[in-house]
Amino acid sequence: MTEDDRVIGGSAQDDAESSIEQSLRPSSLATYIGQTALKRELSVYIQAAKKREEALDHVLLYGPPGLGKTTLAMIIATEMQVGIKTTSGPAIEKTGDLVALLNELNPGDVLFIDEIHRLPKVVEEMLYSAMEDFFIDIVVGQGPTAHPIHFPLPPFTLIGATTRAGLLSAPLRDRFGIVGHMAYYDTDDLEEIVTRSARILNSPIQEEGAHEIARRSRGTPRIANRLLKRIRDFAEVSDQHDSIDKPIVQQALRMLQVDEAGLDQTDVKLLETMIKFYNGGPVGLSTLAANVGEETDTVAEMYEPFLLQKGFIKRTARGRMVTPLAYEHLGITPETN
Ligand code: ADE
Repeated sequence: MTEDDRVIGGSAQDDAESSIEQSLRPSSLATYIGQTALKRELSVYIQAAKKREEALDHVLLYGPPGLGKTTLAMIIATEMQVGIKTTSGPAIEKTGDLVALLNELNPGDVLFIDEIHRLPKVVEEMLYSAMEDFFIDIVVGQGPTAHPIHFPLPPFTLIGATTRAGLLSAPLRDRFGIVGHMAYYDTDDLEEIVTRSARILNSPIQEEGAHEIARRSRGTPRIANRLLKRIRDFAEVSDQHDSIDKPIVQQALRMLQVDEAGLDQTDVKLLETMIKFYNGGPVGLSTLAANVGEETDTVAEMYEPFLLQKGFIKRTARGRMVTPLAYEHLGITPETN
């Protein structure tokens, strides 16, 4: 990997899969399904910035993974008719990496930083003046010859994405003029996404099939599209299904171990662990993560928000607790004592 690849965050892995993923991404606000309130807001800010011939204000997008934060950042750049540089918090290891990225921006361009909550502190601090007044101070030389150089930047738009808005420091968070919360998609929106994706993939699908995939995709387009691709494989090797119908979806999801409510094996393992080992809780997140063999961050970013939203767990001051709904869903009778 070259230095540039590392900073930009590109990787050659899974080329075929990622080019399919690319083709499924909407490229304009008009073709982006769901997140209606946020889209409407963004559309106004984009039109206003263009009318004033200014860079769009900095944008923070937060919400669970797979909801389309990166896609939306790319659409913002397209709609603004500007260039975009894409990177991620962990890829910017030193201030020099950030300087290199900022140095390549043209006036009005977008710098997209995914996982912005994982930026090293020194890099984050350099962003403050860059965002607020479009300059950075770089120290050159060492020891007695060290001196700062004032480095003006073109006006640009920083788009930060994070799954953990709570981990962002106040000074960084306060520098975003536009803050957009990405919410889980409802089944109707996901059904529209699945239908659109199936059309792009040239894969005939029935309305009931699309609905079933949508209903079991954890409110997440990335999961809906991933399930669609796998179910398409099942449909194509089967003699009995010339399109993706509801029975093939049900059959495939059984094999993929996605349950009726869209819970995957890890979701179920988390709930069962809470019930069997902790009598339903309360239990701390890191303890729980260790029990199911996942990183605490993964549980906090991916699993917990969905289980909370479904009403299967609740947060208390002493930890997470399973709700009666989870017992009911798993067919387990709560122990009384
Ligand atoms: N594919 C993934 N997310 C999408 C969205 N929000 N709209 C349309 N297609 C999508």
